[in-house]
Amino acid sequence: MNDFDIFLKDHADCERKASSMAMSFVAKFPDRVEIIPDLIATAVEELEHFQSVYQIMEKKGLRLTHELKQDMYVKQLIEICRSGREERFMDRLLLASLVETRGAERFRLIYEALDEGELKKFYQQLWASEAKHGETFVKMGLIYFDEQAVYDRLKQMALKEASILNNLPIQPALH
Ligand SMILES: [Fe+2]
Ligand SMILES: [Fe+2]
Repeated sequence: MNDFDIFLKDHADCERKASSMAMSFVAKFPDRVEIIPDLIATAVEELEHFQSVYQIMEKKGLRLTHELKQDMYVKQLIEICRSGREERFMDRLLLASLVETRGAERFRLIYEALDEGELKKFYQQLWASEAKHGETFVKMGLIYFDEQAVYDRLKQMALKEASILNNLPIQPALH
């Protein structure tokens, strides 16, 4: 909270990447027609989030920075995804769900820490939106895979996600 300007830059990057991630599913799995409308809707919502964060940045005179360092959180999460077309598809959906849900958790913490005002309302809305996205990606998995298999794998990946996050330094960033 003491480095909110730096946090905003990271937050903007995360929204932009979330939109790209949703659209990358469309590009990689065009045959999964059942989920394409929800993927497009998610990508649009994330892009709107990016637009809103950028507007806040503009008002504060903040600029987007050229990305130099790798996102260690997402990189390590991708490493735990299995290979094989079906396994990878399931894991990437669950990875997306975990990232969205973790984002929701963080936005809630920010919302709770902010004083009354527009910014507080904005982060409250984001909390709800990202929590919904977290559910959306699990529901997508349930269209194609057995319920038990989805929730077992989600549990395994959630444990790994927690340990990845625990080993990252604390910084003014979403993860
Ligand atoms: Fe978002
Ligand atoms: Fe999201």
